[in-house]
Amino acid sequence: MLATVLTIAAVLVCVLSLVIWRVRTNADWALWWHDNYLERIRDFLTGTTRPLRILQHVQRSAKQGDALSVITAIDSYCSKVEWAMNVGDKKGEILDTVVLETRPRYVLELGTYCGYSTLRIARLLPPGARLITIEMNPHYAQVAKEIFQYAGLDAQVELLVGSSTVLIPQLKKKLDIEKFDLVFIDHWKVSYLPDTKLLEECGLLKAGSVLLADNVICPGAPDYLKYIRNCPRYRSQYFPAQLEYLQVEDGVEKSVFLG
Ligand SMILES: C[S@@+](CC[C@H](N)C(=O)[O-])C[C@H]1O[C@@H](n2cnc3c(N)ncnc32)[C@H](O)[C@@H]1O
Repeated sequence: MLATVLTIAAVLVCVLSLVIWRVRTNADWALWWHDNYLERIRDFLTGTTRPLRILQHVQRSAKQGDALSVITAIDSYCSKVEWAMNVGDKKGEILDTVVLETRPRYVLELGTYCGYSTLRIARLLPPGARLITIEMNPHYAQVAKEIFQYAGLDAQVELLVGSSTVLIPQLKKKLDIEKFDLVFIDHWKVSYLPDTKLLEECGLLKAGSVLLADNVICPGAPDYLKYIRNCPRYRSQYFPAQLEYLQVEDGVEKSVFLG
C-alpha cells in the first residue's frame, strides 16, 4: 500500500516538474499557462481583470506623476506576481535605445494594452513630439488612460480606440499627420504584415522611418519577417532577447524604410 502511494506521489512530482520546466522554457506552453490558464483562474477568483490588477498595483505602489516609477511597478508586478504581455524591461531597453536614436517627432504605436510601452516611449520624446497609440479593446484602453493619467503623461499621448486596420487609413485626415518617424508594432502578430503594407499604401512612411516590431519570434510573425528582410525598400536588423518576464527566446526587429 505504502509503495503504491509513494509511486503515485513520485509520478505526480515528475509530471509537475515536467510541466513547470516546459512552462519556463517552451514558448507555446508559457503563453498557454500564463496568458490563458492562470489569467482565467485569477479573473474568476478576484472578479477583476489582469489590466485592472495591474492598475491597482500601480496605484498602490508607484509614485503619482513619476512615469519611471509606474514602469518599475508594472515590471515588478508582472515579473513577481502575474505575467502580462507588456514589452517588458529587457526588450523595453531596446525600445528606449531606438527611441533615443531616432529622436522621433511623430510616433505610432499599434497595440497599447495597459500602456506600459507607451509610457516608455512618451517619457523619452523631445518636446512637441506626438505619440499616437491604437488599442482595439475598450477595457484595455480605459485602463491605459488611467495609467497615463497616474504617470502624468496623459497630455503627451493620443489614444485611439479601434482596430488598426480601420484607423490607419484615417490617421492623416483625423490627426493631421503626414508621416511617422517611428512605428512600434506590437498588436496581434497576424496584423503586422497587412498593417505594414497599409502604412506604405497610405503614405505614412518616409525614407528613414523606423519600424520596430516586438515578439517576432514568440508568439512570432514569420510572414512579417520574411517580407521585411527581403523587401528592398527596408534595411532590417534583428535584436535577440527573451519573451517579457520569462526565459523563452524572443526578439525585436528594427527596420528602416528606405523610401
Ligand atoms: C502585446 S499587447 C501590447 C503591449 C504593449 N505594446 C506594451 O508593450 O505594453 C497587444 C495589444 O494589441 C491589441 N490589438 C491587437 N490587434 C489589434 C488591432 N488590429 N488594432 C488595435 N489593437 C489591437 C490587443 O488588444 C492588445 O491589447
